[in-house]
Amino acid sequence: MKKLIIINGPNLNLLGKREPKIYGSLSFTEFLSEVKEKYSNFQIDYFQSNIEGELIDKLHEVGFAYYGIILNSAAYTHTSVGIGDAVKAIETPVIEVHISNTFSREKFRHKSYISAHAKGVIIGFGLQSYELAIQSFL
Ligand code: DQA
Repeated sequence: MKKLIIINGPNLNLLGKREPKIYGSLSFTEFLSEVKEKYSNFQIDYFQSNIEGELIDKLHEVGFAYYGIILNSAAYTHTSVGIGDAVKAIETPVIEVHISNTFSREKFRHKSYISAHAKGVIIGFGLQSYELAIQSFL
């Protein structure tokens, strides 16, 4: 079975509780079980960390073995040369996703260190951004 992984960065463990007007009120666990069921032709793994180096380590670990990576590096998107370099270094295609439309928010969220190295970018569709990314691997 083809393996996909969703990698979420800092503060995304609080989805459902965190700023629900921006990020929605569904927890990621609930959402994940729905998409796992819906796209059962894929193995869909999940990893979340608030620590930049752990996100880089995970990208290295899966980046030569998995079929696809769906990455929401959250705030690190706008700051991390290291995560951008990791995405560039690995072979597995990475789809960058964001729940909110980062371009309609503060200016510092307009910059991404990931986009240039991603296969594609999906921004602003709520949790559906992740689902659209999964569909891109069908
Ligand atoms: C986010 C957007 C980022 O700017 C923010 O820091 C996040 C979440 C999103 O999915 O909309 O934590 O990546």
